[in-house]
Amino acid sequence: MQLVKTIDSLRAELNRWRSKQESIALVPTMGNLHRGHLRLIDEAKALADKVVATLFVNPTQFGEGEDFASYPRTSAADAQKLKQHKTDLLFVPEIKEIYPRNHCTVVEVQDLSKELCGQVRPQHFAGVATVVCKLFNMVQPDLAVFGKKDFQQLVLIRRMVDDLNIPVTIRGIATVREKDGLALSSRNAYLTRKERQVAPILYRTLCDAKQTIDQGDRDYLRLEKQYQESLTMAGFVPDYFCVRRVSDLRPAAPDDKALVILTAARLGKPRLIDNLQVTLRG
Ligand code: PAJ
Repeated sequence: MQLVKTIDSLRAELNRWRSKQESIALVPTMGNLHRGHLRLIDEAKALADKVVATLFVNPTQFGEGEDFASYPRTSAADAQKLKQHKTDLLFVPEIKEIYPRNHCTVVEVQDLSKELCGQVRPQHFAGVATVVCKLFNMVQPDLAVFGKKDFQQLVLIRRMVDDLNIPVTIRGIATVREKDGLALSSRNAYLTRKERQVAPILYRTLCDAKQTIDQGDRDYLRLEKQYQESLTMAGFVPDYFCVRRVSDLRPAAPDDKALVILTAARLGKPRLIDNLQVTLRG
């Protein structure tokens, strides 16, 4: 696996691959890699000749008072894992490589970036869209792989790619979970032992809501309120528990078929997010 730090050396290597007609898959990450990230790498490897992973803790997607400074940085261990999973190239830029001093362009997917997590993290998705757009321009991959764990991020990136005519195929990969259902996340490390025992209730609540909808309940507003209350009872401080359409994350209507239930809730220090798709028949 090659490790490169500058856009020039990245492009030089990519050009060599491209001249041999090799297809390229991109997996952007902020590091502190776990099995969820590595699933994306494996999927990328199965879909393209070459896999580029990026490791960059992107400052513009963290709000004031969020954990940018303390976000776990484990680049040596990450590089080791990526190598084991047959990543071809790892791009680890410094902040000034991505955001030179005169940088002043922001990519914002309007509306979608203000919904759900965007309500609590108003600058977050502009930071995500900007850095992902820049990475797409730097790497120009044939495809890019993202986790469904961050469902709003995935929908937003698909929207951006469509709106800006970026020639890349986006692949969404199912959330990798612990045995008890908790979605893997770098921020799970912030949970105390006691909170860790409570944390799987988030996914169990999503499963319960899915079952209720599968059984025919279409009163989504009532369900949202009910499940939000049950999360509060369990010890969470929920930001939202919402039933939305998969295509654009607008509130689901009773005749919509492709739904996703999304939730975000604080549990002690970390804010956990999770979601579950529901596909209705008929
Ligand atoms: P990060 O949180 O490091 O996640 C990198 C990728 O891993 C994202 O596509 C995310 O959805 C996926 N991922 C995280 N946990 C997962 C899990 N349990 N199962 C499956 N996939 C999982 O998301 C970001 O970084 C950043 O916002 C980024 C896109 C890199 C832009 O800075």
